[in-house]
Amino acid sequence: MTEKDRSEEVARFLRQREELGAGDLFMDGLTRDEALALVAHRRGAAVPTNRGAEQATSTETETAPFPTPDTLDLSALDYDALRQAAMGCQRCRLARERCNVVFSDGNPTARLMVVGEAPGANEDRTGVPFVGQAGKLLDLMLASIDLSRRDSVYICNVIKCRPPGNRDPMQDEIELCSPYLKRQIELVAPEVILAVGTFSAKLLTGATKPLGRLRGKIYSYEGVPLIVTYHPAALLRNRGWTRPAWDDLQLLRQVLDDR
Ligand code: URA
Repeated sequence: MTEKDRSEEVARFLRQREELGAGDLFMDGLTRDEALALVAHRRGAAVPTNRGAEQATSTETETAPFPTPDTLDLSALDYDALRQAAMGCQRCRLARERCNVVFSDGNPTARLMVVGEAPGANEDRTGVPFVGQAGKLLDLMLASIDLSRRDSVYICNVIKCRPPGNRDPMQDEIELCSPYLKRQIELVAPEVILAVGTFSAKLLTGATKPLGRLRGKIYSYEGVPLIVTYHPAALLRNRGWTRPAWDDLQLLRQVLDDR
């Protein structure tokens, strides 16, 4: 088989995978999009774009920093469609390196929604939010006010894909990903939201102050009571924040009990 035949065969295989709904495919460290881009580039052809998106020209693709943001209007989607859209999302560079999109865990009819920052390595591997050390502490924090992950809480993150090396999410990643969270909140319609950590606290309160100055109050996110507290990973590093985090949990319990 010539190199050209082999390239075409690989391209055909990858397109079939795409049609069958396989989101990310890793080949020797390349994602599906990178592998397709390579094959298409060799043939001087246009690079296949995301499902439903316009076909990009090869020039656009070569200069694009990451796959064209899809313009699907998330605000009209029901829960299953939103989850599906997230699973195939190619809006930002994080799609290239993820193993799994981390959409949610817990009970979508729960009264409380917990919003964290972004998946780490364990979450990327399993597709479930808060399963590492920080997640274990989160479970204990919730249990301390009689809430269980399985029954009484819905858990998700601002960012649905792991930032490489656990770096902080970038502003454009937050902007491209947060419509998923916005729609998730509308559809789950929690009675109370708990934002854990700076990124979710700032996004949902709209404030820019450091977390230590944001916590301890009740905010409103689109009419839903919102409490913010330290991220459990930060609590693992800084024992001095245990007491204020405990106070935040008591405030949360009180808000839930008063409703
Ligand atoms: N930290 C987060 O903010 N979210 C996770 O899912 C895991 C760790």
